[in-house]
Amino acid sequence: MKIGIGNDHAALEMKLQIKEFLEEMGHEVVDYGTHTKESCDYPVYGEKVARAVASGEVEQGIVICGTGVGISLAANKVRGIRCVVCSEPYSARLSKEHNNANMLAFGARVIGIEMAKMIVNEWLHAKFLGARHQERVDMIMAIEEKGM
Ligand code: RB5
Repeated sequence: MKIGIGNDHAALEMKLQIKEFLEEMGHEVVDYGTHTKESCDYPVYGEKVARAVASGEVEQGIVICGTGVGISLAANKVRGIRCVVCSEPYSARLSKEHNNANMLAFGARVIGIEMAKMIVNEWLHAKFLGARHQERVDMIMAIEEKGM
């Protein structure tokens, strides 16, 4: 699978470890930065990965900042994106099975690398269950069409 990844300065090391983990699993990873530990703005990277997912340039997106919160909020502003912040694998799995999340976020200052790998693994292997869940996801996406 082609996966986009992005991060801010707080998550550089974890991003590199997750990127390696994904490549070891056979995925193609497109790294949208940041590439240094210099302080930067997480919305920039949340948006970059989200636009890549929304346009189909990559199939799924993973974004990491200190908490996972800011970068996921930014990603969710892009039309078509359903980005979830997860700190454990159960929510990660259900976010795909029930919510068809197309982006995953977590916090490098919140969880350790082994938990992050477990979350990524669970999320990537889970399948959207459709049926009644499709109707609810459609309802979420319809909110984008309503305006103010
Ligand atoms: C950066 O200090 C921090 O605010 C950022 O990584 C993230 O946690 C924001 O939500």
